[in-house]
Amino acid sequence: VEEIREMVDNDLGFQQAPLMCYSRTKTLLFISNDKKVIGCLIAEHIQWGYRVIEEKVPEISSENEKVIFERQKAWCCSTSPEPAICGISRIWVFSMMRRKKIASRMIECLRSNFIYGSYLSKEEIAFSDPTPDGKLFATQYCGTGQFLVYNFLNGQSRL
Ligand code: COA
Repeated sequence: VEEIREMVDNDLGFQQAPLMCYSRTKTLLFISNDKKVIGCLIAEHIQWGYRVIEEKVPEISSENEKVIFERQKAWCCSTSPEPAICGISRIWVFSMMRRKKIASRMIECLRSNFIYGSYLSKEEIAFSDPTPDGKLFATQYCGTGQFLVYNFLNGQSRL
């Protein structure tokens, strides 16, 4: 798991730092039929998330233009904390296997396994410092661009 995390962190451009609180994190690996790790999700317990403030996409833009706009713009979030339970510290899918709902399936699995006996709602999940890909994914998965985020690189303690 530690080796995979290092590889995922390199891909995400995160500074290398070992996970400190193993007991507070859950790691899910998505294994392909040929026994390769093609997806990884690391989740942690959190208390608060902050809602992304949606910026208006310029009108009459095609889907392609929307994606380009989404990739280029900076994102902002509210300063008011909202209660949250589960933080997605990292989510990663092997580049050749993206857009096949692997990340969506990993989050579904996380929602039913993060807390024994309960199924987390999308409102109880927050994403740590989402990348442009992560933001496009989270917007689609949560059904809103106003999903919860947390961490802000060095603001709160990264794992
Ligand atoms: N561009 C536009 N929409 C995207 C998208 C992208 N790059 N990635 C996901 N979506 C949206 C789509 O609507 C997609 O449904 P569709 O393919 O039917 O249109 C929906 O989200 C579900 O995506 P899914 O197939 O479950 O996601 P994935 O398995 O491709 O994984 C990431 C998404 C973000 C994990 C993957 O792109 C990745 O590993 N990126 C590099 C690491 C990274 O940036 N992680 C995010 C950290 S916050």
